[in-house]
Amino acid sequence: MRLSTQLAGTPVLILREGASRSRGRDAQHANVMAAKIVAESVKSALGPKGMDKMLVDSFGDVTITSDGRTVLDEMDIQHPAAKMMVEVAKTQDDEVGDGTTTAVIIAGELLGNAEDLIDKNVHPTIIIDGYRKAADRALELLEKIAVPVKPKDRKFIEMVATTSMASKLVAENKEYLAKIATSGILQVTEKTETGFKVDIDDIKVEKKAGESLTDTKLINGILVDKEVVHPGMPRRVEKAQIVLLDTALEIEKTEFDAKINIESPEQMDAFLKQEENMLKGMVDKILNKGANVVICQKGIDDLAQHFLARKNILAVRRVKKSDMEKLAKATGGKIITSLDDMTKRDLGFAELVEERKIADDKMTFIEGCKNPRAVTILIRGGTERIVDEAERSLHDALCVARDVIEEPKVVAGGGAPELEVARALREYADSLPGREQLAITRFADAFEAVPTTLAENAGLDPIDIISELRARHEKGEVWAGIEVHDGKVTDMKKVGVYEPLAVKKQIVKSATEAASMILKIDDVIASGKMKAPPTPPGGPPGGPGMGPMGAGAY
Ligand SMILES: Nc1ncnc2c1ncn2[C@@H]1O[C@H](COP(=O)(O)OP(=O)(O)OP(=O)(O)O)[C@@H](O)[C@H]1O
Ligand SMILES: [Mg+2]
Repeated sequence: MRLSTQLAGTPVLILREGASRSRGRDAQHANVMAAKIVAESVKSALGPKGMDKMLVDSFGDVTITSDGRTVLDEMDIQHPAAKMMVEVAKTQDDEVGDGTTTAVIIAGELLGNAEDLIDKNVHPTIIIDGYRKAADRALELLEKIAVPVKPKDRKFIEMVATTSMASKLVAENKEYLAKIATSGILQVTEKTETGFKVDIDDIKVEKKAGESLTDTKLINGILVDKEVVHPGMPRRVEKAQIVLLDTALEIEKTEFDAKINIESPEQMDAFLKQEENMLKGMVDKILNKGANVVICQKGIDDLAQHFLARKNILAVRRVKKSDMEKLAKATGGKIITSLDDMTKRDLGFAELVEERKIADDKMTFIEGCKNPRAVTILIRGGTERIVDEAERSLHDALCVARDVIEEPKVVAGGGAPELEVARALREYADSLPGREQLAITRFADAFEAVPTTLAENAGLDPIDIISELRARHEKGEVWAGIEVHDGKVTDMKKVGVYEPLAVKKQIVKSATEAASMILKIDDVIASGKMKAPPTPPGGPPGGPGMGPMGAGAY
């Protein structure tokens, strides 16, 4: 349909040729369908018994993951409403780092349920209002049932980190990795006036395929993926006094073209001597301050390397800016931009600086820093794919650990909080008159999709499980959830499956916002350049392909 009208017999064209438009129910239906298919495609990855996905990009590179955000990122989604679901995963990941799959599943359910209501002639605005009220209630309830913990309580931090990794490829080593993540996070936690603050960027994660996951290590310092520059330099320096340089140990080139006429060999000699002296001067400035390790963000001239090597100084060059900043935090040194302004107090300290060979690469370890405010985790694992997935899983673990430290409250997992939210919302809905009640009830249904999916993925009968869960929650067992390993409804608190409150709250917010936004759209105008949306890799399980559906929308 073209946005046009007839004016005295002449059509007035507003959109460019080839543009398309769909409105009203058609537009809503297409958007909801697209969003539901996205949700459907990640469903099978939820929980410890969820499956992994193998994603192949256009270069043939393979990623194996069960991380919701990564799956959606790699899917190269084109449909605009489907893209909004990718945004849900992204927001969830950026805000709290975990719960991306759950957020997308709930958003999909909210939309599917809304569509049923629209079919029954409930206006989208009423649904959106109902959803908003329900979301507010859900947030209040989660806050109420959450268990407060001590912000730096290692036991709980370790438990949430373990839970976040239970659903990943690295689950077998989850306790070991959770211990590393917890120690790392606690090391970089800073006290603020109101509580504690953690910057995930203070933990450098380096990965190298080889050995096994249990060889993953926490380094009390920074690992730099660079080797020592000169063969004559020591490979190991104990009690290192470190200069962090943000200036090149080279003779600066002039910005303008200059020509020097040299007329005799003596002049040539003098010219070279001058250069040598300048470099020597630079090295002396470093030596005078008592440094025995130089870490440089820029280049180091061959001759300067030679002078440094002669004095038994270990030097590394072309280190990334982000690593330099972390090094400053770890060693307590200051990044120096001018050698003339350097003082002894600007030097950093580490027990040991050593070049080691990891797999095929030489790397420099700056470790044994005193109370470092930045640390490194070196991930090892059987294959490239395993270390990649371990890195993603560790990211989730570090994020949930941070969430608990910054907002020290936890809830138990296994679908327990979702079912409790559903129960309370149904009760709340009964107290309301009118059609909003319907929306709130359907909101409650959407939350039940979490225990249902956990049960389905574990090969259990969701109907049996949900009825048992409902009955037990009705009796006041707030933490009754489904423990997927033994396939039974259990008190999830007793089995130690804890998650941060922050993750659950963010799920409510991201899913409701995305669903409301998509529901509000009743007109889709696409410019002519838009291509038909492609089918996601593998296609959604049991659902229709994204292609024909998307194409039908425009
Ligand atoms: N032992 C367990 N028994 C039952 N459920 C569990 C268990 N361990 C974790 N879970 C549940 O698994 C769910 C998390 O699964 P998963 O990590 O696959 O998805 P996500 O956190 O929503 O998304 P992502 O990790 O991809 O960002 C949570 O609801 C959590 O409570
Ligand atoms: Mg998770």
